[in-house]
Amino acid sequence: MIHQLIYYSRNTVLGGDRAMLTNLREIVSASQRNNSREGVTGFLIFDKTWFLQILEGERAKVTETYNRIARDSRHSGATIVNVQDVSTRSFPNWTMGGALRTLEVQEIYLAHNIGTVMDPSRLKSAQILQLAIDLQEFEQAKRQGQRLAS
Ligand SMILES: Cc1cc2nc3c(=O)[nH]c(=O)nc-3n(C[C@H](O)[C@H](O)[C@H](O)COP(=O)(O)O)c2cc1C
Repeated sequence: MIHQLIYYSRNTVLGGDRAMLTNLREIVSASQRNNSREGVTGFLIFDKTWFLQILEGERAKVTETYNRIARDSRHSGATIVNVQDVSTRSFPNWTMGGALRTLEVQEIYLAHNIGTVMDPSRLKSAQILQLAIDLQEFEQAKRQGQRLAS
């Protein structure tokens, strides 16, 4: 059984797009390093105001990882939306995929009825999961395209 945890939190990083991107890269690279060691996979959705993250793996590893993340000063008010046991991972290939909300992915958000101003407290866990799966597919397709083009 795979344990899956979904939470959201408030992004407390100040600065413009550049600062935010640098920050996301730092978070994602630390996450990839730790998560690959712990067998944790997942996806991080990110805009100027919010983080939404899905963590999946062994229950103890997921709990341990979440507890460490929740103490991070780059965000506040981490709130668990849902925990469940699932039979398969939704993000098997991502030790931590990350997607910043940019114009490029705007349509994916809109297709999920998530307006420009997102309110995670009103999102259902299934909606967050499906949004992340669609963003993951978009990222994967983009990377494949880049590989073909180069
Ligand atoms: C929104 C957010 C998501 C994060 N996700 C992860 C994660 O999935 N895995 C992880 O190990 N650290 C994650 N971190 C970073 C941890 O809070 C912490 O900085 C890091 O695990 C410390 O790793 P290090 O001791 O190897 O530098 C996240 C931080 C934030 C703000």
